[in-house]
Amino acid sequence: MDTKTKATLTLDGKSYDLPVHAPTLGPNVLDIRKLYADAGVFTYDPGFTSTASCESSITFIDGDKGELLHRGYSIDELAEHSHFLEVCYLLLYGELPTAAQLSDFEGRVTRHTMVHEQMHYFFRGFRRDSHPMATLVGVVGAMSAFYHDSLDINDPWQREVAAIRMIAKLPTIAAMAFKYSVGQPFVYPKNSLDYAGNFLHMCFAIPAEDYVVNPILSKALDRIMMLHADHEQNASTSTVRLAGSSGANPFACIAAGIACLWGPAHGGANQACLEMLREIGTVDRIPEFIARAKNKDDPFRLMGFGHRVYKNFDPRAKVMKESADEVLGLLGIENNPTLQVAKEMERIALEDDYFVSKKLYPNVDFYSGIILDAMGFPTSMFTPIFALSRTVGWISQWKEMIADKDQKIGRPRQLYVGEKHRKYVDVRHR
Ligand code: SDX
Repeated sequence: MDTKTKATLTLDGKSYDLPVHAPTLGPNVLDIRKLYADAGVFTYDPGFTSTASCESSITFIDGDKGELLHRGYSIDELAEHSHFLEVCYLLLYGELPTAAQLSDFEGRVTRHTMVHEQMHYFFRGFRRDSHPMATLVGVVGAMSAFYHDSLDINDPWQREVAAIRMIAKLPTIAAMAFKYSVGQPFVYPKNSLDYAGNFLHMCFAIPAEDYVVNPILSKALDRIMMLHADHEQNASTSTVRLAGSSGANPFACIAAGIACLWGPAHGGANQACLEMLREIGTVDRIPEFIARAKNKDDPFRLMGFGHRVYKNFDPRAKVMKESADEVLGLLGIENNPTLQVAKEMERIALEDDYFVSKKLYPNVDFYSGIILDAMGFPTSMFTPIFALSRTVGWISQWKEMIADKDQKIGRPRQLYVGEKHRKYVDVRHR
């Protein structure tokens, strides 16, 4: 950590020096770790809008420029030249792999795609109409009941095996959740297929006929997975880090991340966005919804719009929009009404002072659902796909935290505004 200068806080006539750390990219940070011990005060930052929770070298976001780097490589370049498992390697190990390293890594992931046969029984306990995210949270958490040889977080080998197992098995479990919800038999992974193709196969193949992976859809899905792989200290990643800081096993930590991602303000926005676009239905109804989004008395928000960090275009949304045009064009459905509504809504919103002044732009969730819908996924599968893609990011951040010599259990304090101490009163006298 590069400490160049210091800041001075003056409180009740006393001065306190706070070290200022300089990052390789982004804003300087004030180190307040000793503030309470020295000055007896807390900082207050609901939602952590100005708080760095950790030191990390995995992903960097410049919200003003609309820039996203994974280990220094821009998401635009990775989306154009790389593929999901190569990005997984980059996030996990910090460097782009050689051909031999990539082949070995892909081989290890491929050989872990099956789940313990007994896990099939878990699904029987859920209602058929359960949301696949409910199933995913439950079954991923239950992995800690099966894979006892990769629970010890202090054993680097076990951490590595747990990472490979989760990257490999999340698609299998997500596909099983989908198959269960539609009453079709589970489809085993096929090692001859690539990562995205295997997921399409496990979701859409049926025993009654041969299934051939559509390369257009497989390539588009692989790109969607890349765009969702990691994103700095977002809510679900922070959840994984906080769960991991207690020493919980990796499967439990990822299950916690999946639970957090489900919220419509976070990973659940892709499902909510497509449902919103469908509710709007036609371009002429857009002004009605824009007005609702601007109305302080209406809780409605434009799903897929806005971001805590991006105050410019989300670079992932730009790639996703191009991909939507390409995929729907190749499928011959470029006149898809939902895509037309999305494009017109983006155009109108970006000319409206409310959105311009608040720097609200389309985010990663605005166009992703349109592509997933065109692939045949129901909206309920959109967030599970986000979850299986983000698993590598959660795992990479979790591994970085475990290896951080400064890491300790996360335990924020509070601004207490409740009752002062008062005596108990017997019920007869209340
Ligand atoms: C993801 O953090 C990450 O990196 C997340 C993510 C990742 O990869 O992990 O990028 C994935 O979660 C993307 C975001 C998906 N969520 C949505 O699309 C839901 C709709 N968007 C919002 O709910 C909102 O924009 C958030 C939650 C994304 C960000 O909220 P913030 O940073 O807390 O901002 P805010 O709620 O304080 O909003 C600032 C202002 C407010 O108005 P004022 O109170 O200042 O008058 O902008 C308004 C908000 O009302 N606003 C919106 C809006 N988003 C913010 N108004 C209408 N529609 C919206 N979508």
